[in-house]
Amino acid sequence: MMDYFTFIILFGFILQYSNVDSTSMQPTVKITQSDPPHKNRLIKGEIGKDVWMHCTVENLPRESQVKWKYRYFSKQGRPVTKEISSNFQIKGDNMKWAIESNSDFSYRLRVKALHINDEGNYTCYVQITDQQQEARDTRTIVARQTPIFDGEKTSSDENVAEGDEDVVLQCFATGRPSPTIVWRRQGNAVLPPPGGVERLGNKLLIKEVNYRDKGMYFCTAYNEMGVIKRNVELKVRYEPKVTQAELRIGQALGYQRTLSCFIEANPTPSTDTGTSELAWKKGTQILKTNDRMKTKAIAGAYGKLTFELTIFSVESSDYGSYECIAKTVLGQTSKSIELYETTEPQIDKGGKTSFSCRGSVFFDHF
Ligand SMILES: *[C@@H]1O[C@H](CO)[C@@H](O)[C@H](O)[C@H]1NC(C)=O
Repeated sequence: MMDYFTFIILFGFILQYSNVDSTSMQPTVKITQSDPPHKNRLIKGEIGKDVWMHCTVENLPRESQVKWKYRYFSKQGRPVTKEISSNFQIKGDNMKWAIESNSDFSYRLRVKALHINDEGNYTCYVQITDQQQEARDTRTIVARQTPIFDGEKTSSDENVAEGDEDVVLQCFATGRPSPTIVWRRQGNAVLPPPGGVERLGNKLLIKEVNYRDKGMYFCTAYNEMGVIKRNVELKVRYEPKVTQAELRIGQALGYQRTLSCFIEANPTPSTDTGTSELAWKKGTQILKTNDRMKTKAIAGAYGKLTFELTIFSVESSDYGSYECIAKTVLGQTSKSIELYETTEPQIDKGGKTSFSCRGSVFFDHF
């Protein structure tokens, strides 16, 4: 009798304290999967989108509940813990949380339409009976947002007059973390003083705008979630700039010769011969296309023009100084080219100039 009693006690003792038995009875809790996927226990959720975490429990003791809670810092910086759920029962905001299950012992927490206030440490846990202990697993959710331009504070195309103004190109974007803003120019051209190919910050100041400042600028806003880009074209109004292809050009009597000048202007002078906004002049005489000569304007990239005068067969009266004139509402500019006599005939390169210009038009459009 005595032996039997002792045996029972002993057996119970072994059952309760045997290492092997009690460990195999311990529940294990694991957050196995999440969307977005976690990395180093961190989940970067996108504001406005759902985030879910999959909690799998093994050896769940009878009568035990699988719970979710989360811990965050209050505005005053104090840690606050909030119960979310017990098994499939939501304790708090039904609109914010849901517990889903796709198999036994799986408790997936869905945080709907992530908000900044949802940032915190989310714990899936099981209370271990008779012990003040819990089996648990935790993930940290942070709220992230890809950059978005603030349309009202971001510049659209600007149109200014040369010399008389400072221009500030502006670019503002929101995002989380706060995006970095970088200004660049098309083709990585050098930025206005103090120069450089890129400039950090929301504002790009261009002092006393010069016609060389014209063109496409773009700002990029980026954070760890992505990159966005916005083009801002700076249009500068300026009086015509005229440059000669050559200051002096020679030809023998009886041969063809082409004089060329290059014109940059905004607005561009009309190429319509009737308006005389573009003209070749010798002395006081404006030269028009006739059976001895012709004028021709060729449009190039960025509103650049090549303006040519071709004399089909040079006569002695043709030698002398010519003026290439460009005129717009903003002013008139001219440059002179001298045609002088040579004994040897020269190859006329007029056609080649126009070809290289067409080439640049072609390039610009593709
Ligand atoms: C969340 O967990 C991280 C990492 O363990 C910790 O640094 C942070 O203080 C925790 N936040 C709260 C509100 O407890």
